[in-house]
Amino acid sequence: MRDALGRVQSVLLVGGSSEIGLAILRRLPRADAAVVCLAGPDRPEMERVAEALRAEGVGRVEIVDFDACDLGDQTAVVDAAFTDEPDVVIVATGYLGDQATAEQDPAAAARIVDINFRGLVPVLMGSVQRLRAQGHGTLVVMSTVAGERPRVANYVYGAAKAGLDALTRGLTASLAGSGVTVVIVRPGFVRTRMTTHLKPAPFATTPDKVAEAVAAAIPRGSRIIWVPGVLRWVMLVLRHLPESLFRRLPG
Ligand SMILES: NC(=O)c1ccc[n+]([C@@H]2O[C@H](COP(=O)([O-])OP(=O)(O)OC[C@H]3O[C@@H](n4cnc5c(N)ncnc54)[C@H](OP(=O)(O)O)[C@@H]3O)[C@@H](O)[C@H]2O)c1
Repeated sequence: MRDALGRVQSVLLVGGSSEIGLAILRRLPRADAAVVCLAGPDRPEMERVAEALRAEGVGRVEIVDFDACDLGDQTAVVDAAFTDEPDVVIVATGYLGDQATAEQDPAAAARIVDINFRGLVPVLMGSVQRLRAQGHGTLVVMSTVAGERPRVANYVYGAAKAGLDALTRGLTASLAGSGVTVVIVRPGFVRTRMTTHLKPAPFATTPDKVAEAVAAAIPRGSRIIWVPGVLRWVMLVLRHLPESLFRRLPG
């Protein structure tokens, strides 16, 4: 439960090493003895993150192993990650993959879908069940504009993110009146390790800008945000562009 000053006392970051996820986490107003739970597949990397967070004054950091490609029972992940009743759950797991490889290798395409969508379904459903039972909390889900209209350059990733976005919109509707709020974040190109090998797209932004937008959206009760905000209008136009024109757009 947030403290009397509205500061978070417990945060769960799924995608415990994500640059954007960590920027959001660091931007939240945090109580002195706050607890952070990091869930992800790379324990040594999360140990490094945990050490940095402790040095920044986080009271306690827990680590939970979570591999989205492990499609077995993920209930244990949610159980372990929810021991401290998180005020905010950030789902920042993601994997761009390589479109050309995915077109040659169906298993590579399935991996993109597993990490960005299928493997997150039990975690999202389980988290919402727990948040609903708590009667409070905010779920932040990292979607993307790439899910709004698939491009030939990354349509497998876009399709997986479209699934994640649709599921989260459904969950948002199902949570009406529960005391739990949801923020779906649709950034364009963000300069992180996920995109270092790519030429920045128009309206490219940074993890800090995404975090700033999320921190502003939570108290406002915004359900879907685009980062930067102008992308909301750009996508409104692009969604309705005839396919023949859309296909000729650069990038
Ligand atoms: N960067 C962009 O341009 C951009 C734009 C729009 C939306 N997004 C979305 O924003 C979110 C954060 O991305 P980011 O830029 O911060 O990238 P990032 O730093 O690479 O974060 C991705 C996270 O996903 C985790 N992950 C990868 N494979 C996984 C698996 N098999 N199981 C569980 N977790 C796995 C990574 O963990 P390990 O490092 O330990 O593998 C990492 O914590 C993602 O959902 C991404 O799709 C990014």
